[in-house]
Amino acid sequence: APLGARNTLRVNARAKLLAEVNDPTKLPELLAYPAVQGGKVLVLGEGSNVLMAGDFDGTVIVMATRGVETIEREDRVLLRVAAGERWDDFVRWSLGQGFAGLENLILIPGTVGAAPIQNIGAYGVEVAEFVDSVEAWDTHANAFVILDRAACAFSYRHSSFKQQAGRWIITAVTFALPRERPLSLDYAGIGDELEKMGVTKAAPFHVAEAVVRLRSRKLPDPAVIGNAGSFFKNPIVGATQADALALAHPGLPVWPHVGGTAKLSAAWLIESAGFKGQRDGDAGISNRHALVLVNYGKATGPELLAFARKVMAGVEARFGVRLEPEPLVV
Ligand code: FAD
Ligand code: EPU
Repeated sequence: APLGARNTLRVNARAKLLAEVNDPTKLPELLAYPAVQGGKVLVLGEGSNVLMAGDFDGTVIVMATRGVETIEREDRVLLRVAAGERWDDFVRWSLGQGFAGLENLILIPGTVGAAPIQNIGAYGVEVAEFVDSVEAWDTHANAFVILDRAACAFSYRHSSFKQQAGRWIITAVTFALPRERPLSLDYAGIGDELEKMGVTKAAPFHVAEAVVRLRSRKLPDPAVIGNAGSFFKNPIVGATQADALALAHPGLPVWPHVGGTAKLSAAWLIESAGFKGQRDGDAGISNRHALVLVNYGKATGPELLAFARKVMAGVEARFGVRLEPEPLVV
């Protein structure tokens, strides 16, 4: 099966088999098929966070389930959402219903089922804050399970699902949106954008609009040019290394992170190492955002991976910091 239209980096890889799942209860049956069982399995949503470095010699499972169930509680609303729903559609729908909380996470591509995998985040908010539970098929236990938020072990761009890659096939996610919650306005840029919009007293839909405006300016649209968003995570380093780097490079953005560690701007490191707008053939780094690896047309998976490795080597040589790819490299 061709995967070119199923990954936003637009790599023309193929899979041996592909199955779209419309009914999660059929998963055990599908996994028990002779052609599937014992072979490799890759779950794909919209392919907006994968780099196909080659063909996939196994079965790609696409979760195509749909639906949202609403459970009203006094202090919060619970929304149980099928894995195959589009994240951005769900965010817009929830705001339209008057349920606030997800406004900073508007316009992130991909499916609801993938959102917990790397704990999607943007503009000072991570989805972890709103995950009540995750329903999944556990391929180790051979059973449907429900993981509560603690079991998901969320941290920056990480979770149990990334830790034990491939173990769980997520079928639905239940989000808890509190009825009372202050807006998250601290992330650099949001305040200025609201001001430009002439907003003095921000409501959730204003924040959503500000984020849409910021993202549309900064990030290349995968419909126009192949990309997977940030290709690298912002590196987390110890306080000593952060202090030394900040002293040597006064422009480097350093943000405080958990347990006295610090998060560095990978985009700044990449831009300062000279890679922004650079390309080898059709593989390159966006000229709009230094964290975004782009496919200008016909780049292959190995070509994109080679360019990413060149960036990693350049940044490590210059700053002594090791970048880690954010997408799953298949
Ligand atoms: P895929 O790319 O298909 O899969 C990603 C991973 O999740 C793979 O490991 C896959 O196996 C696994 N997976 C997917 N579905 C399931 C399932 N049902 N069960 C088990 N495993 C599953 N991310 C952010 O966090 N913040 C951003 O601001 C952001 N901006 C982006 C902007 C652009 C332009 C693009 C292209 C990407 C951006 N991303 C961002 C990355 C991406 O949107 C997220 O990682 C998203 O959650 C991926 O969803 P997907 O359905 O495309 O997953
Ligand atoms: N910067 C540069 N050069 C650039 C772009 C940015 O030097 O080309 C510096 C600037 O100093 C800027 C800072 O980096 O102020 C931060 O940039 P930005 O606000 O764009 O955020 P980011 O750290 O680069 C992260 C996430 C994005 C998320 C944004 C907004 C990661 C790996 N990336 O990017 O998530 O949308 O914050 O919150 O954490 C993704 O994961 O795919 C993704 C796009």
